[in-house]
Amino acid sequence: MRIQALFPTCIYHAPLQRTGAKALNRELIKETNQIRGYDIEGQKWSKKNYRGGYTSYGSLDKLHQMSSTFRELEKKLNRHIKTFAEHIQFDLKNRELVMTDCWVNVMPEHTVHGLHLHPTSTISGTYYVRMPKGCSSIKFEDPRLANMMAAPPRKTDARPENRQFVEYPAEAGSLILFESWLRHEVASNPTRSERISISFNYNWF
Ligand code: NI
Repeated sequence: MRIQALFPTCIYHAPLQRTGAKALNRELIKETNQIRGYDIEGQKWSKKNYRGGYTSYGSLDKLHQMSSTFRELEKKLNRHIKTFAEHIQFDLKNRELVMTDCWVNVMPEHTVHGLHLHPTSTISGTYYVRMPKGCSSIKFEDPRLANMMAAPPRKTDARPENRQFVEYPAEAGSLILFESWLRHEVASNPTRSERISISFNYNWF
C-alpha cells in the first residue's frame, strides 16, 4: 500500500541572515516611522482600510526603489526567493523572479490584517521587523477549503499537512515565503506594542 501526498502547498520559513538582523531591524524601524510620518496619503488609506494601523500598501508600495535600506533587504530576500523557487521547481529558464512591490505594515494593539491573497504575483512573503512577545502570527488557509463541502473536520491533533489552517510563529529577523495564491491573515494584535513587518511580491519576467 502506498499513499502519496501530491500538489503540495509550500511555505518557506527562515532567518533572513545569520547575524546582524538586529542592526538592520533598528534601521528599518527608524525608516518605517519616518515614512509613516510623511505619508499623508497612506495615513488616509490606512484609516479607511487598516483600522488603527498604518500600511504603505495603498501609497508607497515600491520602497525597495526608494530607500537603500529596503534595497539592501531586497538583495537579501532574493537569495531566499531563489532557494524557494528551486525547491518548488519553477522552470525559470531565461526568466527571472523580480521584486515588484514592497511595503510596510504597522499593527498597534487591536489592528487586524484580514484574510487575503496577492493577485497578479507569483511569490509573496513577509519579513518580520518588530514582533512584541505574544503578538499574532500569520495564519494560512487550505487553498482547497471551498471544495470541501462534505468533508468532515480534521482531528485537533492532525499532522500539519492535514490541517485546514496553519499558523506560523512570527519572530523578528525571520521571513516567510509562499505562493501568492495562498490566502492568509493576521489576527488582532493582542499586545500593547506595535507589530512591524515588511511585505513584498515577486513576479516572473
Ligand atoms: Ni499578505
